[in-house]
Amino acid sequence: MSVDGFVTVARLSDVPENRLVGVTVDGASIVLINRDGNIYALEDRCSHEEFPLSAGDLTSGEITCALHGARFDIETGKPRALPAVLPVTTYEVRVEGEDVQVKLGD
Ligand code: FES
Repeated sequence: MSVDGFVTVARLSDVPENRLVGVTVDGASIVLINRDGNIYALEDRCSHEEFPLSAGDLTSGEITCALHGARFDIETGKPRALPAVLPVTTYEVRVEGEDVQVKLGD
C-alpha cells in the first residue's frame, strides 16, 4: 500500500463505461463503476444479504442488486430501495495515468 493509502486495483481500460467490475484487493471486495467516465468504488457486498453488487445492474447512478432488487446510490452508498436499509461502504478513487487507485486505509 502506498503511503497515502491508495492502492492500484485495476487498469482504466479494464473498467469500461457504464459497467460494473468486481475486484479483490488486500482482502477487500470492491465493485468499480465507470459512469460516463467517472470512476466510483463501493464495497462489493449488498447490505441486505451480502450478495455481490458487481452481479447487479447500473442505472442512472444506482446499482440494483441482482438478488432482491435493492438499489444503492453509487456516490454515497446509501440505499434507495428496499429490502436494503443500511448503506454500503464507499471508497475514495483516483486515476493515475492508466491506474485506477482506491483508498483502502490511511
Ligand atoms: S442481497 Fe441484495 S437485495 Fe437482497
